[in-house]
Amino acid sequence: MPRVSFDVAATAYDRFMGRYSVLLSPQLADLAGVHPGQRVLDVGCGPGALTGELVARTGAANVAAVDPSASFVDAARTRHPRVDVRQASAEQLPFDDDAFDVALAQLVVHFMTDPVRGIAEMARVVRHGGVVAACVWDHAGRNGPLAQFWDAARSMDPSVADESNLPGVREGHLARLFREAGLRNIEASVLLADLEHQTFDAWWRPFTEGVGPAGVYVAGLSPQRRAELRERCRAALPDGPFTVVARAWAARGEA
Ligand SMILES: C[S@@+](CC[C@H](N)C(=O)[O-])C[C@H]1O[C@@H](n2cnc3c(N)ncnc32)[C@H](O)[C@@H]1O
Repeated sequence: MPRVSFDVAATAYDRFMGRYSVLLSPQLADLAGVHPGQRVLDVGCGPGALTGELVARTGAANVAAVDPSASFVDAARTRHPRVDVRQASAEQLPFDDDAFDVALAQLVVHFMTDPVRGIAEMARVVRHGGVVAACVWDHAGRNGPLAQFWDAARSMDPSVADESNLPGVREGHLARLFREAGLRNIEASVLLADLEHQTFDAWWRPFTEGVGPAGVYVAGLSPQRRAELRERCRAALPDGPFTVVARAWAARGEA
């Protein structure tokens, strides 16, 4: 079972994290060198942001995608009807050895129950010399898109389980996981997905929709604590348009 459940509507995900992840997709596909004619796999596809980028590059018939969340699998199938979308986890991919040229995981490794096994599975289903690539927010460096939120939550409750201890979210750790998974010729880099928000409310509202660890945290607060958290965030952010810096650690390696 995944460490964190994403049993939410795809549209809620789009508003919360999809607004950033869609900015990462072309960069991760570039990093992996995805080009026409290749067979590619999107691991932890969610509702299909990266899947769409892969379809645009290689055609739907060359793309497969997996995710453990039933609602996301449904959404990805609806959005990309000719893609082979399956309900599965990275740690146990339902594909033969050497089935793909490239396997990618965008914002997924930190949610894997066993990241080394998940990355090793990605390597298994990629042909010898094929590429595995992944990216994960820089949560530990407070440069991810949720930094202002977790700062406010921590100021209210210093023991809060923010996402700064998850696998891959600190500098160098994603590349280390790639090494432990047996990949070769590993290169580490940084991807940027800075995003402008028009108002404080446009930034805040998606946190109240229960998506990911931040959404689950907000949903578990009493109405008073939730209002307090919102006010702490509001005090730390401007009312008018503001840009949230979103930086992701990325790694690519060869199978
Ligand atoms: C932050 S979302 C990223 C979704 C999509 N890749 C994107 O960039 O928008 C994390 C996704 O990882 C999936 N996930 C969680 N654990 C997983 C695992 N062990 N293997 C594969 N996917 C997993 C979740 O269901 C969710 O769809």
